[in-house]
Amino acid sequence: MSTLLYVILTSLIVSTLAINTNRETLEFLIGNRGRGLKKGCSSENHRKHGATQCSKSVVPEAPPPAPPLKKELLLFADQRLALVYSIIQKFKSTITSDPFGVTKTWVGSDICNYKGFFCDSPPDNKSATTVASIDFNGFQLAAPTLDGFLDQLPDVALFHANSNNFAGTISPNIAKLPYLYEIDISNNLFSGSFPAAVLGMNGLTFLDIRFNFFTGAVPPQIFTQNLDVLFLNNNNFTTRLPDNLGSTHILYLTLANNKFIGPIPSGIFKAFSSLSEVLLLNNQLTGCLPYEVGLLKEAIVFDAGNNKLTGPLPIALSCLEKVEQLNFAGNQLFGMVPEMVCELKNLMNFSLSNNYFTAAGPLCRILIEKGVLDVTNNCIPDLPFQRSVVECSDFFAHPKSCPQMWSYTFIPCKSFGSGSMIPGMAPSP
Ligand SMILES: *[C@@H]1O[C@H](CO)[C@@H](O)[C@H](O)[C@H]1NC(C)=O
Ligand SMILES: *[C@@H]1O[C@H](CO)[C@@H](O)[C@H](O)[C@H]1NC(C)=O
Ligand SMILES: *[C@@H]1O[C@H](CO)[C@@H](O)[C@H](O)[C@H]1NC(C)=O
Repeated sequence: MSTLLYVILTSLIVSTLAINTNRETLEFLIGNRGRGLKKGCSSENHRKHGATQCSKSVVPEAPPPAPPLKKELLLFADQRLALVYSIIQKFKSTITSDPFGVTKTWVGSDICNYKGFFCDSPPDNKSATTVASIDFNGFQLAAPTLDGFLDQLPDVALFHANSNNFAGTISPNIAKLPYLYEIDISNNLFSGSFPAAVLGMNGLTFLDIRFNFFTGAVPPQIFTQNLDVLFLNNNNFTTRLPDNLGSTHILYLTLANNKFIGPIPSGIFKAFSSLSEVLLLNNQLTGCLPYEVGLLKEAIVFDAGNNKLTGPLPIALSCLEKVEQLNFAGNQLFGMVPEMVCELKNLMNFSLSNNYFTAAGPLCRILIEKGVLDVTNNCIPDLPFQRSVVECSDFFAHPKSCPQMWSYTFIPCKSFGSGSMIPGMAPSP
């Protein structure tokens, strides 16, 4: 099918931001290649790929050289280019900042040589030439809106514009772009609610809107759409984590640094036992950690720091045999630090500071001495740097309980039937 060819020519490019995206910034990565992705998707790498994937040398039928420019008459290599010329020029006139002088190249009829624009033949006519992809990554252009531009490029397949200063909302009209399959508008100034136009765009496989100012709810349907990549981190989304995450096909999903509220649905863990990084930090997640967290057998990093989680730590965390970093700092967790978790062989950084733990056994104390386990500012009476007695008693003055308290001692990886998650089969204390 011709669409497929078109897609192959401009295959998926994963890009991240040039700005300081250390772990603080992220995320909830799904897929066992999560770590590789982070390394392999620097913007430098992206540019390299972009050059190969988008360069004119891979265009099968290169447009004929642009005819000489006459006074007022512009001759275009293709009717489709003539159509978008005025769209581009109109957009150019709205650009308020262009520190690298990119738009200086946006003159004349040779649109395929404008910086940031890439031509190809569209799926519906192999002998035509059209603007097939846009790559403005890192151009630092500023414009009050993309409306009237992105939504008016009828054949665009890729739109990559990370690290610019584009603002406004995303036009509902992008839903009508038949070939659009990658959108990266991360690290811009977009605001308003989730760009609902993408819901139901069946061709879309890549949606990166992180580091913007989007607010409100994330429609649950997006999680079951046929996306490979959905990056939502570092916005101001306030949503419960949807129960339907369990049936998602998304390979890479980032949620950190928003205002996600409510409990972590236990179904999440069941579905994503191949996660290498689960980063839920800096949200407003509440409730108790479900024992299903023990299903994350591939997790190397689990970070739920700075939320409002409460309850004890499930002993099931001891199933995370590959885990190197566990962070629950800045929550309202209490009880004893599970000794079995302190026995994990690969654990390098186990941070429980700023909680209300009351006890740590001998194995955990060895980790404290080694500097692996941090329990500062808890309620462990015989350890230094703890909360005051008043603070601790205030906290425990309110009754605390979690649903299914039996489950905190349940270890899914050690139960018979290995990994059987039927609660009825779990031992009752
Ligand atoms: C395909 O595109 C070419 C070049 O623009 C054009 O001459 C031709 O009429 C188009 N064919 C159809 C069927 O639209
Ligand atoms: C989120 O909202 C808070 C205020 O409610 C604001 O201070 C912060 O800058 C916002 N962050 C983003 C990324 O929009
Ligand atoms: C351990 O992890 C915590 C939380 O992510 C972080 O603040 C701290 O710097 C880390 N410590 C080391 C020694 O890496």
